[in-house]
Amino acid sequence: MSETIFLGRVLSFDRRCAGAGDETAFTYEEDGAVLVRDGRIIAAGAAEAVRRQAGAAQVVDHRPHLIMPGFIDTHLHFPQVQVLASWGADLLDWLNTYTFPEELRFADAAHSARMAGGFYDGLTNHGTTTAVAYCSVHSESAEAYFAEGHKRGMCMIGGKVMMDCHAPEGLLDTPQKSYDESLDLIGKWHGTGRMHYAISPRFALTSSPEQLEAAGALVRENPTCFMQTHVDENVDEIARAKELYPSAKDYLGIYEDYGLLNERALLGHCIHLTEREVGVMAETGAAPVFCPTSNLFLGSGLFDEASLRAKGIESGIATDIGGGTSYSMLQTLNEGYKVLQLQQQQMHPYTAFDWITRGNAEVLGLRDDIGTLEAGSAADMVVLDAGATPEMRLRQERVESLAEELFLLMIMGDDRAVAQTYVAGVAQK
Ligand code: GUN
Ligand code: ZN
Repeated sequence: MSETIFLGRVLSFDRRCAGAGDETAFTYEEDGAVLVRDGRIIAAGAAEAVRRQAGAAQVVDHRPHLIMPGFIDTHLHFPQVQVLASWGADLLDWLNTYTFPEELRFADAAHSARMAGGFYDGLTNHGTTTAVAYCSVHSESAEAYFAEGHKRGMCMIGGKVMMDCHAPEGLLDTPQKSYDESLDLIGKWHGTGRMHYAISPRFALTSSPEQLEAAGALVRENPTCFMQTHVDENVDEIARAKELYPSAKDYLGIYEDYGLLNERALLGHCIHLTEREVGVMAETGAAPVFCPTSNLFLGSGLFDEASLRAKGIESGIATDIGGGTSYSMLQTLNEGYKVLQLQQQQMHPYTAFDWITRGNAEVLGLRDDIGTLEAGSAADMVVLDAGATPEMRLRQERVESLAEELFLLMIMGDDRAVAQTYVAGVAQK
């Protein structure tokens, strides 16, 4: 039994903040501590009270930095670590020119394993301790993804993409092969350590009706698995989806028709939703995922968070590497803040940090394990330094409140502001 006390300013959100004046949605201790035993949080709060619960614990002193739950990224692509920062006109051009050719390389297990190392280092260097990723069509890529995440003790979600048309030959499976390989991966990895499987039909443009049928069967037969896909990201993509599936009511209607939507479904982008589609999301519990750096980079459009919230729909927020341009959830908040500003929607720093921790955990239905510093949760934590660069230190001189400090972190911060990342109590940096 190993016990460690982490000292610092401890911050964890209990619920979504109602707004600027709402100081009751989180727990914050200036002189705080987190007690960890065998990778799990035993207690977090005022240092004196936490110390009383500790035995002969090792002490790690992070004062005066902030200790928070590790960040959660609800949508990104493992085989796109070398696609990030590729110049492209728009989604379909970018996919065909850079992304599909790059993903061909992941047929090779050795390449997949090497990329997995870089991918996970990228996550934890930026304070991310859980992520939901698409692998390539090749089982080799999913094996590398899960093996590396499992080795590091992380809570990770992912799946091989199912795609059987309108892409290079080497990226295509068949309805039967995609069903069989997904099922094998589910059997091997879903519930192994902290791994979860996401059934992953890439999007309607690269799946035949027979393959979407197979994906629907997987969803029906594996109710504890996640389902992830893309919808309503780009206007040309939407037009093509309607051409390919003329009998569907709309783009989301395609996935609806094949039984893919439920409360474990994660829908990337959701920028150009119709009113009917918003209604379907509210009814089925499928969650939209906001990918601000990607939506700006690919010129896809502005995610309308407030309209979804008005219908009771909680969104995830994510990097979408490599359409997205940074591994950093802090930089994701920075760009997300601006996307919402353009629509006269405000993102308060409390709301922002709640979103990338508890909020995303709630969207995944994994709040018992991740997203807060509550007793019983895994000790997945990030240590943040708002004075990490000379420019941040200068700005910090004028910071007078926790909200101002958080805002500085989300606007100016990146991996340099991440002093340490812990996965199940183990330091990663
Ligand atoms: N739609 C289908 N595949 C992708 C992808 O890899 N990235 C993005 N941003 N959108 C997609
Ligand atoms: Zn994506």
